[in-house]
Amino acid sequence: MKPSVLVTRAVFPDVIERLSQYFEVDDNQPDAVLDGAALKARLAGKAGVLANAADRIDADLIAGLPGLRAVCNMAVGYNNLDVPALTAAGIVATNTPDVLTETTADFGWALLMATARRVTESEHWLRAGKWERWAYDMFLGMDLYGSTLGILGMGRIGQALARRAAGFGMTVLYHNRSQLPAGTESALNARYVSKDELLAQSDHLILVLPYGPASHHAIGAAELARMKPTATLINLARGGIVDDGALAQALRERRIFGAGLDVFEGEPAVHPDLLTVPNVVLTPHIASASEKTRRAMANLAADNLIAALDAGPRAGQPPCVVNPEVMARRR
Ligand code: GLV
Repeated sequence: MKPSVLVTRAVFPDVIERLSQYFEVDDNQPDAVLDGAALKARLAGKAGVLANAADRIDADLIAGLPGLRAVCNMAVGYNNLDVPALTAAGIVATNTPDVLTETTADFGWALLMATARRVTESEHWLRAGKWERWAYDMFLGMDLYGSTLGILGMGRIGQALARRAAGFGMTVLYHNRSQLPAGTESALNARYVSKDELLAQSDHLILVLPYGPASHHAIGAAELARMKPTATLINLARGGIVDDGALAQALRERRIFGAGLDVFEGEPAVHPDLLTVPNVVLTPHIASASEKTRRAMANLAADNLIAALDAGPRAGQPPCVVNPEVMARRR
């Protein structure tokens, strides 16, 4: 008998077909909301789950599910998973790195340019029928070319952002848990600085660090106060890294120039104050959302699930394990 797996959210139908070659698949193609008790009920008797970054999978959820062996996120971030609890229960956890790096960095650029050059703000104004005459000071923005880009979190996506900055003649500063090797720094033309220096020197600051207790509200009122009044702030990483209420206040008081946000604390809810300030570009967590990349993410999550449940060409060797000690224990 094939093992059973759950796919918590609607996904490309061919991915469900692929999984069906190996498993009894309980899909959610109607995309019903599955959380808490509903998710737990659907997980009963399952050997694995293809999950989404919004599915909270923690000790309470997995208690009483002794057959569960693999939790495979369709996302590079996995702060929705309680990895220590999964590891303790012998459940392998996987994510989808690399395949989304360039698409996400492209979107970082889209948000940055839209914010610095007031693209959405001016479009809303135009659509509202307010454009009567051209004026020399309409929607004056901030330049990217020749400015200083700050990157907080210099992993794969941070480095892809830094590579793009070369085309804009930007100076690149970064702060990270650990400094990159000198060769990588010089290839990226990026200089390591303290977080304080990053805040003070950046004309445009992009957040691409992982979310966890250590990065909760890494950008709050105090950090915003250290930034230039002409600076922009872009959050591509996770909600909760920015204190959205403090940001809305700083934007309203023009203590920074603008912000571009793809992620929000408590999303899909958005802090109501952010909805009332004009100098912020808001998008619904779509940084990796190109057709090609979302397909690649879904297929990589499926590869992980198939291999983690000892099936397919890579049986027992899922490509992107975040708790390798579980796989080691199985050998
Ligand atoms: C998206 O937010 C991801 O982590 O892949």
